[in-house]
Amino acid sequence: MKRVVLLGPPGVGKGTQAELISEKYNMLHISTGDIFRANIKEGTPLGKTAKEYMEKGLLVPDELVCDLVEDRLTWDDCKDGYLLDGFPRTVYQAERFDSWLKSRGEDLSVVLDIQASDELLIGRATGRRVCPACGKTYHIVSNPPKTEGICDNCGTALIQRADDAEETVKKRLKVYQDQTSPLIEYYTGTGKIAEVDGAPGLMEVFEQICALLGE
Ligand code: AP5
Ligand code: MG
Repeated sequence: MKRVVLLGPPGVGKGTQAELISEKYNMLHISTGDIFRANIKEGTPLGKTAKEYMEKGLLVPDELVCDLVEDRLTWDDCKDGYLLDGFPRTVYQAERFDSWLKSRGEDLSVVLDIQASDELLIGRATGRRVCPACGKTYHIVSNPPKTEGICDNCGTALIQRADDAEETVKKRLKVYQDQTSPLIEYYTGTGKIAEVDGAPGLMEVFEQICALLGE
């Protein structure tokens, strides 16, 4: 049973690695960004609120995110552990999450801190293409679909995420530096953090993660 957090800047490969980890270790992948995007697509009240922040590259308010995650983690499918992608993202979220876990007698297994240079991150985010139907992620250079612009899985036309325009990516990087990077120190204090170099190719990054997670 593992409870794993993927920490790292926008575009570093959290979602990509989460898919690989979830398949190999049979772990449930929970991405707050994906939950918000699904709500935006469905036009729910949560989606309407989240959209206002996401399209500007800003974080959705802490209380809203924490309520959402705490609710999601009480579903039956989380009882054998989970992989959190994009949460927690502020010191407030991490502190509240820790108290919530503690109140349930639970603990995190590891926080994987994936890092790469800003130049690489901007290239990865702006070159990303996603399938609006099945959610599969591609990159126009490093991970292209077999047919340009078409999802390998389901044949749907790929789109660019609304917040992957270069100016918004730069804003998200700034928000990461200001609000999320302090979590590295926070988790170093708990002894739970493990560093992963996110710069090499995706399978090389995955090998580092497997070495940390064990068999
Ligand atoms: P979210 O969806 O979490 O976005 P993010 O953190 O900005 O990260 P990304 O999804 O952009 O990148 P990723 O690390 O998953 O990279 P990927 O694997 O796709 O959040 C979006 C928004 O939602 C936030 O801005 C905020 O508004 C809101 N939100 C979400 N959670 C929140 C929270 N907890 N609190 C408040 N607000 C919240 O890879 C990127 C590209 O690179 C892909 O094209 C991929 O194919 C390629 N690639 C990946 N790895 C490699 C590699 N090793 N080599 C070459 N290419 C690679
Ligand atoms: Mg992602």
